[in-house]
Amino acid sequence: MLKFIHLTDLHLTANGERAAGYDTYANTDRALSHALDLFPDAAFVVITGDIANWGEYEAYRRLERRLELVPVPVFLMIGNHDNRDNFFSVFGRRHPFAFPYAQYRQAVAGYELVFLDTQGVGSHAGRLSPERLAWLDETLSSSGSEVLLFMHHHPVELHAPALDAKGLTNWSEFHTVLARHRGKIRHIFHGHCHILLQGNVEGVSFTGLRSMSDQAYTDLKLSKAARLHAEPHYGVAVVTPNSVVVHLQEFNYSGPLLVRERQRFEDFIGLCAERGVAVPGEEPSADAGT
Ligand SMILES: [Fe+2]
Ligand SMILES: [Fe+2]
Repeated sequence: MLKFIHLTDLHLTANGERAAGYDTYANTDRALSHALDLFPDAAFVVITGDIANWGEYEAYRRLERRLELVPVPVFLMIGNHDNRDNFFSVFGRRHPFAFPYAQYRQAVAGYELVFLDTQGVGSHAGRLSPERLAWLDETLSSSGSEVLLFMHHHPVELHAPALDAKGLTNWSEFHTVLARHRGKIRHIFHGHCHILLQGNVEGVSFTGLRSMSDQAYTDLKLSKAARLHAEPHYGVAVVTPNSVVVHLQEFNYSGPLLVRERQRFEDFIGLCAERGVAVPGEEPSADAGT
């Protein structure tokens, strides 16, 4: 079993300035502390891009200093808010990057982790150039292990105009590569949308998470970006030979935990009976409901 922590969209700033009104460093700090306290057996932490809100060098340095306190590997990626040069200035030797791209592969616990660089040019939208797609295709082809794929931008159109306007500009080419290797890719973990997302594309399941900054709202019609105040969270992924499960942790919750004994089923039956409802005592018969 492989357990790891997924954080995304830190949107850190250089000097404590708030990003979209939020203290994103405090949220990131709390998320890391919470995760490592609650899940000390996590094999690693992955941060799927938008590390810095404005790409500032000092924002990356702040994260670098914080990561010195993290006792497990932390895998970093860039997003549309990041500055590639400043990111590499601080973290360029941290991972085996396929320069000039911030993408790389890493073998952990029998799985191949593949970190994809989806940053576009001149836009918040992402783009996978032919070189990056070729790298992905070759990496997936040569991997002898099952793959967990990490990317910043969402992997498929969401049918939500505001979010899709900043999606990948060449999803179909990406999907062609995905389809070729779908049997090998266990799950895609992404960020960028600042909203909880789950689904599958080309038969590959995916999960996207909220940010450490503001969170998105969509009614699937809004063409402008809508935000709401909602608590940030991080994901705890548990991967086994036949399953991938992602739990969500709202680490800013500070209220009481209502821990109680699990209700005995006999008590539940009694409470139902008081209301004139019988609990099924045997398998339904073929003529049930007629
Ligand atoms: Fe973001
Ligand atoms: Fe983003």
